[in-house]
Amino acid sequence: KKIAVFASGNGSNFQAILDQIKLGAIDSEIGLLVCDKPQAGVVERAKSAEIPVFCFVPKEYETKADFEREILAALQEHQIDLVILAGYMRLIGSTLLEAYQNKIVNIHPSLLPAFPGKDAIGQAFEAGVKVTGVTVHFVDAGMDTGPIIAQEAIDITEEDTIEMVAEKIHQVEHSLYPKVIKELVSK
Ligand code: GRF
Repeated sequence: KKIAVFASGNGSNFQAILDQIKLGAIDSEIGLLVCDKPQAGVVERAKSAEIPVFCFVPKEYETKADFEREILAALQEHQIDLVILAGYMRLIGSTLLEAYQNKIVNIHPSLLPAFPGKDAIGQAFEAGVKVTGVTVHFVDAGMDTGPIIAQEAIDITEEDTIEMVAEKIHQVEHSLYPKVIKELVSK
């Protein structure tokens, strides 16, 4: 199965997935990167790996459906089976949800349903929880809702700074997401 990664930022999860594909641990190929921020670090990562990139600027379109129709055309052109959201900072609309039913997954840096939305790591840290973690889930129309596929917890200790918590979360993401994708593409 061919996957597309949607990302808006640094792309450390994109890189972790790509690395596992290159190592042969995931039997798949990243056929496309979709990015809504042309300056994002993830674009350089894709280019240096010679992965096709579809970049767009959302405010150049009147509606979400307008840019999602172009994304959908790119996904179809590249024969994408599965969509992986990795730090894509917007809600998926009905155009893509209908075309890729149960074929869009997201990673979120908390144990959902706790701390959905932006800055989940900061939210958990401020709340003083002793356990947080990472969730991989199927995407529906809601914000970080949809059936949960996998979760992994980390502890927040007295000594931890928010940077240390973020580092632990990212390490878990980089191992958990490739593991889940490996399973999904083998089905
Ligand atoms: C990750 O923490 C992910 O859980 C969240 O956005 C971040 C993306 O980081 N949805 P990166 O761009 O993969 O480094």
